[in-house]
Amino acid sequence: MQAYNKGFAYVYNWRWAGFARQVAPLLLDFYASTPIGQTNKSVLDLCCGTGHLAVHFLEKGYRVVGLDLSEHMLRYAQENARQYVDSGQARFVQGDASDFTLDERFGLVVSTYDSLNHLESEQALRRCFECVYAVSDGYFIFDLNTRFGLRRWNNIFIDDSDDDAFVITRGVYDGQSDKAWMKISGFLRLPDGLYERFDETPFNTVFEMEKVKEALLDVGWKNPYFARIQDLKTPLDDPEREGRVFIVASK
Ligand SMILES: C[S@@+](CC[C@H](N)C(=O)[O-])C[C@H]1O[C@@H](n2cnc3c(N)ncnc32)[C@H](O)[C@@H]1O
Repeated sequence: MQAYNKGFAYVYNWRWAGFARQVAPLLLDFYASTPIGQTNKSVLDLCCGTGHLAVHFLEKGYRVVGLDLSEHMLRYAQENARQYVDSGQARFVQGDASDFTLDERFGLVVSTYDSLNHLESEQALRRCFECVYAVSDGYFIFDLNTRFGLRRWNNIFIDDSDDDAFVITRGVYDGQSDKAWMKISGFLRLPDGLYERFDETPFNTVFEMEKVKEALLDVGWKNPYFARIQDLKTPLDDPEREGRVFIVASK
């Protein structure tokens, strides 16, 4: 279980929202072009993090529920979507993506930025597929880093681009085992000018794409396929050759 901690949630909200902002319009366009997407405007953002993807759907009139394990990420999501939370168009709940129930159903369930690689095993991923199936009326779209993609984690990146934070990211993956690790640490400047240290070491579980597809089919999902975010309608022949793939399944 990997609920992001307070310091990392701050950095994430500040620096790492770009991916969600980039993929949200593409996911929305795809969903809006499907038959169910014409009428059903309800979305579950699974592992919603700081809520940036949710905000895009909210701005376009969708109702959104965001679920995340981390109270700190959820606090930013609530702040970022404040007006929609206040009006009742959005709701954020704390929960585990592989063990949750909700009292409503959704036309679209999305999960982005390798969130489901954070689940510890194939069993946990399968349980997640079951939980989503129980609350879905339509599509389930999520992304995963592949083994090929995680091999690229082996590097060190230092972000000292301004005085408010100093962030060091170290990725470790041997290319063989079923976990890749990313150690993220650094210092954040507080309002009083002093710096506070933060550390977070999330892992990604490596899932074999064929097994992911089998698990989806076993649970009852129809027509699962792998695609690139730029073209969610076109299935890929060899997802393991991609660094990150989007998986599209329907009920
Ligand atoms: C890389 S962030 C992605 C956040 C957001 N989806 C985005 O695109 O920016 C991964 C998120 O997954 C959450 N998370 C990790 N394990 C989880 C679990 N088992 N259940 C729910 N959320 C989880 C973390 O707290 C974090 O907010």
